[in-house]
Amino acid sequence: MRYRNLPDGSQIPVIGLGTWRMGGGTEPDPTEDASVLNAIHAALEMGYTHIDTAEMYAGGHTEELIGQVIRDYERQSLFITSKVWHTNLSYPAVLRACENSLRRLDTDYLDLYLIHWPNSAVPLEETFKGLNELVETGKVRNLGVSNFDLDLLEQARQLSATPLVTDQVPYSVLNRTNAQNGILAYCQQYGMILTAYTPVEKGRVHELAALNALARKAGATPVQIALSWLINQPNVITITKSLNAAHLRENLAALKLGLGEDELAILDNLAEIGP
Ligand SMILES: NC(=O)c1ccc[n+]([C@@H]2O[C@H](COP(=O)([O-])OP(=O)(O)OC[C@H]3O[C@@H](n4cnc5c(N)ncnc54)[C@H](OP(=O)(O)O)[C@@H]3O)[C@@H](O)[C@H]2O)c1
Repeated sequence: MRYRNLPDGSQIPVIGLGTWRMGGGTEPDPTEDASVLNAIHAALEMGYTHIDTAEMYAGGHTEELIGQVIRDYERQSLFITSKVWHTNLSYPAVLRACENSLRRLDTDYLDLYLIHWPNSAVPLEETFKGLNELVETGKVRNLGVSNFDLDLLEQARQLSATPLVTDQVPYSVLNRTNAQNGILAYCQQYGMILTAYTPVEKGRVHELAALNALARKAGATPVQIALSWLINQPNVITITKSLNAAHLRENLAALKLGLGEDELAILDNLAEIGP
C-alpha cells in the first residue's frame, strides 16, 4: 500500500475500498450479506486497509457488515472513514450519529469522519461544535467534508479545531469538474487531500478507446490507468467499490503502475479526445 501523511501523524492509504450499495441502497438488503462479507474480507486479505462508508449506506447496514469483518483484524492496521448524513448535522444529532456508527462498526474510534453533504438549514458552526468535540473525546481522529464547494470548504477549514483533512468529491478521467472548479488546487494549497469518488465511473472507463490504447501499451487495464492517473496527482487519493474479487485485485494493482509524461499528457487531454 502507498499512503499520504495526515497532520496528526497518521497515514491514509491512496486506494481505499468504497462501500456504497454494499448491503442495500438506502435501505438494508440482507440478501446480499454473504457476498458483501466475502468481498470486504477478500479486500482486507489482499491488502486494502482503508474502508470508506457512511451511516446512510443501506440505512446503517453497510457499517454493520463492515463491523462483522473488521473485528477479526487489528484495529490499528485499518483506516476507517464514515460520514454523517445531512439530516444529522445539529450538535446533538452529530454526537448521536457518531455513537451509532461506532456501535454498528463495533469500534471505539473512526480514523476519519466526514460531513456527507452540506445542509444550509444547519449552521456549520453548530455541526463543527459537535465534530470538534468528537475529536477531543477521541471518538474521531480526523475530520473532513464531502461534496463541499470551495466556499463551504473554506468555512469548514476555518471551523475545524484540527486541520481539516479532506473534501471527498467525484473526480475521474471522465469527470474533471472538481479540478476545474478549484477544489484540487485548494487542497494542494492547504495540505489537504482530495478523495476522488466514483473513480472508475462504475466501470465505464473500460469503454474509452484512449484508455484501452494506453492500457495495451502499459500491459495494464483501462481501470488501472484511470486509478493510477488519480493517485499519482499530488494530494489525491481514491476509493473504489467492487464486490468482485478479481476487480478488487485489479484495482489494487494500480498501485504498481507508473505513468510517464507522454501517458499523463494523453490522459490530461482525454476530455477533448472523448470516448
Ligand atoms: N461522498 C459521496 O457522496 C459519495 C458518492 C458516491 C460514492 N462514494 C464513495 O466512493 C466509492 C466509489 O464510488 P462508486 O461506488 O460510486 O464508483 P466506482 O468505484 O467508480 O464504481 C463502482 C462500480 O464499478 C465496478 N467496478 C469496480 N472495479 C471494476 C473493475 N476493475 N472492472 C470493471 N468494473 C469495476 C463495480 O462493479 P463490480 O462490483 O462488478 O466490480 C461497481 O459497480 C463508493 O463506494 C463510496 O464509498 C461517496
